[in-house]
Amino acid sequence: MDVKTDVLIIGSGIAALQTARLLEEHFQVQLVTKCSVKMSSSYRAQGGIAAVTSQEDHPKLHIADTLTAGEYHHERRNVKVLIENGTEIMRNLLNEGFPVDRQVDGSPALGLEGAHSHHRILHAGGDRTGQVMIDYLLNQLTSNIVVNCYEMAYELLLNTNGDCVGVLTKGAKGTKRYLAHHVILATGGAGALYSCTSNFATNTGDGIALAYRAGAAISDMEFMQFHPSLLWSQGQAKGLVSEAVRGAGGIFVDAYRQPLMKGIHKQLDLAPRHVTAHALFHKRAAGQETFIDITKIEHFEERFPTIAQLCSDNNVNLQDGLIPVAPGSHFLMGGVVADDKGRTSIPNLYAIGEVACTGVHGANRLASNSLLEGITFGQRTAQYIIQTGCTQNNFLISDKHHQQTMPSLFTKDQLRQMMMHTLGIVRSPIDMQQFVQQLPSLQTLLHVNLNGLNQQELELFMMHIVAILMAFAAITRKETRGAHIRVDQPENDNQWANRWIIFQQGQMKV
Ligand code: SIN
Repeated sequence: MDVKTDVLIIGSGIAALQTARLLEEHFQVQLVTKCSVKMSSSYRAQGGIAAVTSQEDHPKLHIADTLTAGEYHHERRNVKVLIENGTEIMRNLLNEGFPVDRQVDGSPALGLEGAHSHHRILHAGGDRTGQVMIDYLLNQLTSNIVVNCYEMAYELLLNTNGDCVGVLTKGAKGTKRYLAHHVILATGGAGALYSCTSNFATNTGDGIALAYRAGAAISDMEFMQFHPSLLWSQGQAKGLVSEAVRGAGGIFVDAYRQPLMKGIHKQLDLAPRHVTAHALFHKRAAGQETFIDITKIEHFEERFPTIAQLCSDNNVNLQDGLIPVAPGSHFLMGGVVADDKGRTSIPNLYAIGEVACTGVHGANRLASNSLLEGITFGQRTAQYIIQTGCTQNNFLISDKHHQQTMPSLFTKDQLRQMMMHTLGIVRSPIDMQQFVQQLPSLQTLLHVNLNGLNQQELELFMMHIVAILMAFAAITRKETRGAHIRVDQPENDNQWANRWIIFQQGQMKV
């Protein structure tokens, strides 16, 4: 079945919905997601949205915090765009009526999170910021937009000039072919490649794999952020315990209630995430249990209703004052290379939100800059498409002759365990080399015909491509920077300060 539209958006998180609401009055828009519309990392976001809204704060300070947390591995021009435009967009959103939590005097209640020098985290519904934001954006969509749930995009379509003009999807009713003037990837990250994660199991990095197979440039895949505090119960991660809990006075402690972050970083429990995650990793590797002590936080249940519920569902008694936590994969800084208008290296293909790598997060994202990224680059991409219009007149699809049969792959669980061990918080070159040797070659995966696969098989395939891209990038970067921590090279090394872009033909330093 063929569907023709002006703009096709793949994904349903904050970046997708912000773009959709701004485009739908100008164009025909179709949105495709492989899950239900609320199954996104954005919907799960607890802490909030970082933005400068108080007189004491300044965009320059927010930029400085972003650069410090990400260890200066940024596209600085895009950081400036993110913070300055993001500030304006968030102020407009507040004026428009987005319901943030407020103080008695009516001003927004601003939270504090890791590596921020100022209270600047806007939040809603206590720790339900993502949920409130997604519901707010969904409520603004009209019947102009067609939302197609439970359809997984698996192959981008290029015309004979090399422009992206559509995508193939697989759903309960079989394969669909969408043709569009503009195709926007907003498919989120790849946290589900790890056995211990804050992400939905569906965050399998599909957008990155799709874009790579179509020939797009990919970058910074070595930088997977581990969040230090996932609720740990019965040997498993059960969900996020927001950094906002530590911003409100929570402290990392061991089983004897001894503070863990003393002497490790001057910002203690609010150090950048790669620092806190690494510290907890060490304690746990040495056999210790790790907790957040919440005894100093008043009205915990009121301030953090989602986390209180999560604890209650997992038999963690808040009256004890200790929440057991462990680090887990959370956010991918790398992805499909995109500029400040979402444009990728393939004409008419855009990437926004976590699937994109605009270089705004460097080697470690600053807390609560991700919703800001989605809302800001979603808006800028929509504005660019409105200016450009729909002018594609070549919908002749170039035939890629994908004929390779599927090589043998690991199961999802096997791959997740191996990723946790090999490309987790601490990486060893020998382990990474051995891991890559056990995986099929990228060249083979580029030419596999995917038409006969179901969603589970497609996800597994995409996960393998993403795992290989991450391993190559991590092997290449022979230094420690932000979330990429190498046992053999434990320091920053400015020889490696550049970014590496991965193309189908190989890697290039920029
Ligand atoms: C959190 O609430 O700790 C997560 C927010 C983020 O990922 O920035």
